[in-house]
Amino acid sequence: MKAQKAGKDLKEQLEKAGIEDSSLEAELLTRHAGNLTRVEFYAGADLVTKELESLHGFASRRLKNEPSAYILGAREFYGMKFQVSPSVLIPRPETELLVQLVSGEIHDNDTVIDIGTGSGCIAISLFDQTSQSKIIGTDISTLALQQAQKNAVEHKTEISFIRSHLASSIRIADIIVANLPYIPTNELAKLPKEIKNWEPLHALNGGHTGIELLSELISDCGQRLKPRLIALEVGFGQAKNIARLLKKQDASTEIHHDLAGIERVVIGRWS
Ligand SMILES: C[S@@+](CC[C@H](N)C(=O)[O-])C[C@H]1O[C@@H](n2cnc3c(N)ncnc32)[C@H](O)[C@@H]1O
Repeated sequence: MKAQKAGKDLKEQLEKAGIEDSSLEAELLTRHAGNLTRVEFYAGADLVTKELESLHGFASRRLKNEPSAYILGAREFYGMKFQVSPSVLIPRPETELLVQLVSGEIHDNDTVIDIGTGSGCIAISLFDQTSQSKIIGTDISTLALQQAQKNAVEHKTEISFIRSHLASSIRIADIIVANLPYIPTNELAKLPKEIKNWEPLHALNGGHTGIELLSELISDCGQRLKPRLIALEVGFGQAKNIARLLKKQDASTEIHHDLAGIERVVIGRWS
């Protein structure tokens, strides 16, 4: 069967099931089944029986709301490919703003800590942008750290990964960057099925207020670690609260908007 025809059939199935971007998703899954480039797909490549069987497997997983990034095993972030599995959050495009803002702030020999590193996408992208600095990724999840380590090796980056509650195992930091869980516990049930049923809860749950981990990290930074700069991704409506917590720790603050116009990153500076 022509891959393009198989892709069209899958698109219709996904569309019927209410899955967004059905056309792109169907193409990516079909190309993955046949190991086809975009050009091969559109130039009329065939899928052999085994490949069609794989595609049926992918389709049934996607129809059970498994995110396509887990089925494909990868997601692109900041122009690089990261391996992902259900042990890590799928990197989001809005998080690229953190990398963009922080990479311009790193000086030679700085120690940069990525708290809650997940797939390692922030730490690895920062290393790729500024290979001068010492970059450390921390996470509470051993499985996430293993995934981050694999990605670091894949991208030939020298990053250390440490299991730690927030920055508690860190003694020195010039820059702290973090995309920590920020969804209030009572809002988790309202998330789309493909997030709440598939992505790890420890990567989403920000506690009762949503900002519990962020608050703890901010006071640890203000009182003990004293980095030069902290950059935090925040959820919708949280930025002003986070800026207030940073000011309480004598930091000067800035709020940056993502491409959707949402207040997404709060930066705190200590001089
Ligand atoms: C929203 S995900 C972000 C992952 C990755 N940095 C990204 O941007 O795609 C949050 C990460 O924080 C980790 N995490 C949750 N609680 C933590 C804690 N107390 N200390 C360190 N990391 C934690 C989770 O395991 C998860 O990998």
